[in-house]
Amino acid sequence: MYNEIDLDKIDIVTEPPTEEPARQYYFMAKCREWVREFERKNGRRPFAFTQTFGCQMNARDSEKLMGILRKTGFQEIGDEKADFVLYNTCTVRENANQKVYGRLGYLNTLKKKNPHMMIALCGCMMQEPEVVEKIRKSYRFVDIVFGTHNIFQLAELMVRRLEERNMVVSVWKGTDQIVEELPVERKFPFKSGVNIMFGCNNFCSYCIVPYVRGRERSRNPEDILAEIRKLVSEGVVEVMLLGQNVNSYGKTLDTPVTFAQLLRQVEKIEGLKRIRFMTSHPKDLSEELIRVMRDSEKICRHLHLPLQSGSSRILKAMNRRYTKEQYLDLVDKIRAAVPDISLTTDIIVGFPGETEEDFEETMDVVRRVEFDSAFTFLYSRRTGTPAAVMEEQVPEETMKNRFDRLLSEVQQISARVCARDLHTTRDVLVESLDDHLEGYVTGRLSNNTIVHFPGDASLIGTIVPVYLEESRGFYYMGTAG
Ligand code: SAH
Ligand code: SF4
Ligand code: F3S
Repeated sequence: MYNEIDLDKIDIVTEPPTEEPARQYYFMAKCREWVREFERKNGRRPFAFTQTFGCQMNARDSEKLMGILRKTGFQEIGDEKADFVLYNTCTVRENANQKVYGRLGYLNTLKKKNPHMMIALCGCMMQEPEVVEKIRKSYRFVDIVFGTHNIFQLAELMVRRLEERNMVVSVWKGTDQIVEELPVERKFPFKSGVNIMFGCNNFCSYCIVPYVRGRERSRNPEDILAEIRKLVSEGVVEVMLLGQNVNSYGKTLDTPVTFAQLLRQVEKIEGLKRIRFMTSHPKDLSEELIRVMRDSEKICRHLHLPLQSGSSRILKAMNRRYTKEQYLDLVDKIRAAVPDISLTTDIIVGFPGETEEDFEETMDVVRRVEFDSAFTFLYSRRTGTPAAVMEEQVPEETMKNRFDRLLSEVQQISARVCARDLHTTRDVLVESLDDHLEGYVTGRLSNNTIVHFPGDASLIGTIVPVYLEESRGFYYMGTAG
């Protein structure tokens, strides 16, 4: 396996190899030289800090980036007072971009105090040419800019920066390449995200993701299964299979495989206890998948099924390719097969042309389905998407008013339905010590609800049966046993 390779055994005097991942290990070895030099001068290894601004897929990318940094000898620290700072950005809504610009100002002051500091920006925002232009012009202290398609090249880009002494910008427009076997530094020892596919082909009319993440590409099932087996051998008990639309997994492989078939294979991995996945597009959720969920011992009783809007008219304009009725039918089918399932969703308020009646349709679906929780978003206009140029953009005030009404409805329902397992004993995967209560730990039920109960650090990563004593809206207080 490449990721167990000893960097010191790599010859860095000759030209770099052209094939991957050998090429990247060559550059990691070169970076390691630089790290040693740093250590000789400063009496310590350099510090690295990465921050993720986006979704689970971005978070997984950050683990890969941190894996590369760790392999070359950097040590991770918890804030920006580091020698290498990397922001993995998101551009799904405008406020995600604003956060990054805000933080860049702060980085500039830090860099003035520590001129050797290296600043790198990557992720979805960097796939937008206007953003890169702005950084070149107004944020010249940034050292490296790269996108979503070449994150595996971090070490190569760092070496280039050290050699060229100018801002290095390397943003690929797209790729078919999936580079396997790079080092990964996981955030949790007992659970892990696993990419099963990259990109998105759906082009929902409001969404920028297909433009910044490129076309849909699925990993080979053998690579996915090998990765999960390795994770399990390292102590992982829960995996989250990641993709923008996991239900269309495998369609583009040379030998097509369905997502349900992949899940059946993952289920067989001994030692793995829980399987989660994200995100499911309602239009592609098959009967086969519902059957697999029904029959599975390991697939968690939770489905995140983004609704976006309850109005069939708006759904059409959003290019979601299902109607309100189809969504409700799907929910009925899932609940009939898996009665104790918890359903969560994403909803956008204020899509162009949304009328009060359309909004009431959304409220209607929310009341009928009774989601365990819902992420609610104000529509954000993304340049380059079809919705950005639609007439009838909804005035901000109307949008906010609807948003508040929706949120309050969602919260009331959520507090009620989340309590459905009260006074029963359920398995909890313990994730951490409780942040607020001493002598307590925090974990999750199969349906993703949080539980706090008395316990100590030795329980972290184990599954404990817990009696759910009290419901406090979004979480339970319990006792082991
Ligand atoms: N692939 C996933 C979602 C990825 S983006 C899916 O199809 O469900 C996560 C969420 O951000 C989306 O579900 C949507 O609710 C929200 N979102 C995406 N673009 C948005 C925009 N322009 N304005 C507001 N919310 C948006
Ligand atoms: Fe965006 Fe739609 Fe793709 Fe989800 S499915 S990432 S909302 S285009
Ligand atoms: Fe954001 Fe990119 Fe994820 S835009 S939501 S980080 S795919």
